[in-house]
Amino acid sequence: MNLDVVILAAGQGTRMRSRLPKVLQPLAGRPLLAHVMDMAAGLTAARLHVVYGHGGDQVPARFPDRQVSWVEQPEQLGTGHAVEQAMPGIADDASVLVLYGDVPLVRPETADSLIEAATRGVALLTVRMDDPTGYGRIVRDRDGRVTSIVEQKDADEDERSIDEVNTGLMAAPADRLRDWLSRLDDANAQGEFYLTDIVALAVADGVPVEAVQAGDAEEVMGVNDKVQLAEAEAAVRRRRVEELMRQGATVADPGRIDVRGQVTCGQDVFLDVGVVLEGEVRLDDRAHVGPYCVVRDSHVGEDAVIHPHSVVEGAGVGAACSVGPFARLRPGAQLETGAKVGNFVEVKNSRLGEGSKANHLSYVGDTTVGRDTNIGAGTITCNYDGANKHRTVIGDRVFIGSGVELVAPVEVEEGATIGAGSTISKRAPAETLTVARSRQVSIRGWKRPTKKKT
Ligand code: UD1
Ligand code: CA
Repeated sequence: MNLDVVILAAGQGTRMRSRLPKVLQPLAGRPLLAHVMDMAAGLTAARLHVVYGHGGDQVPARFPDRQVSWVEQPEQLGTGHAVEQAMPGIADDASVLVLYGDVPLVRPETADSLIEAATRGVALLTVRMDDPTGYGRIVRDRDGRVTSIVEQKDADEDERSIDEVNTGLMAAPADRLRDWLSRLDDANAQGEFYLTDIVALAVADGVPVEAVQAGDAEEVMGVNDKVQLAEAEAAVRRRRVEELMRQGATVADPGRIDVRGQVTCGQDVFLDVGVVLEGEVRLDDRAHVGPYCVVRDSHVGEDAVIHPHSVVEGAGVGAACSVGPFARLRPGAQLETGAKVGNFVEVKNSRLGEGSKANHLSYVGDTTVGRDTNIGAGTITCNYDGANKHRTVIGDRVFIGSGVELVAPVEVEEGATIGAGSTISKRAPAETLTVARSRQVSIRGWKRPTKKKT
């Protein structure tokens, strides 16, 4: 059977108080609508239709690469009218699933059970709420069969006391739906063509209506203002952190961590408070990320430790490496097994070989470092001449003293030692001490100036 998914996204969303159309508001770094489209794309759907309107072309323009049929609803005359706009593109033998662009947390399993129920007639997703105010109520007859949906504004006192509400999500066979939509009218409190009115029409036509209960109220929450947006954000965060914990991560406090990208975790990974993981991040078994670290688009190997307050971006941290506290790994930083980068060290586009160390206050840029090399405190690779970047090459077992400047392009050969305070601009030969600093002099009898009397 063909499945067509219609996502309603034409509404204005006045309560957001924003220049951005509601469905483009960011949730976990992506527009609300992207979450709904991604979930729909994961269903075995024949086609995806998005009904847009308020905000004009801004909405389709935000998704230039999506396989979506964009349907404009120039005037927002109601949810029934919105679905009707998509119907010309849908075949009679299809099944239609209606989703809302501002209901972003629906699980694919829930959508699947609606689709399955729609093989027998009309399927509605409903949920019980402690406070159903504002929602359409599910009206049932004495035998418990659904007979209609009544909107809050059209409901009488008895109907308003019903706590089972319409989430807005439904599924129905296309041919019947097309007929019911054409028979809708706007004789109601809001003067709109309500999608919900197809329920009474289906019942009158003898088509069964099935209410599928949503897992929980959170899954079907609508995002109408910034408060609900923050609630949805917290829910997404909770879900993602739970995924990591299921993969084997120990999380110091699930409420104080942010997972914004695609993160995969090995066993016994530890994530401390205030950690932010963004983009594509891979954390291997027993990797340890300390408090207040940002790790973006990076790979952290087995048993590696990222100490507090470090920023790791576009980097590869090998097994058993140690980074930070207060270290910055920039794109192209590659630390091989057991390498160490300490406090206030910045590494960019550089490889640090196995067991090599830069422990304090250094800048290592555009550099290749061999294995078991020690880079002393305050060492700087001068990689930029004001116009171009140049490389520094440092061999195995090199010892670079403190406060050294390496003026690139330059090479320090294996086993070399560089005296502290040197400015190295020529090749430093292997297994040799190279010192490039002025000699120390002591002047006997020299007098310190004294303050003149006035
Ligand atoms: C709707 C349901 C209500 C349900 C509630 C759940 C109807 C008549 N009512 O009410 O039973 O409890 O959702 O949240 O369906 N939209 C369009 N074009 C329009 C009108 C709306 O695309 O002309 C879109 C909106 O952008 C939104 C969705 O449809 O994504 C729902 O519209 P909204 O006005 O929020 O419906 P509610 O009054 O909340
Ligand atoms: Ca709504």
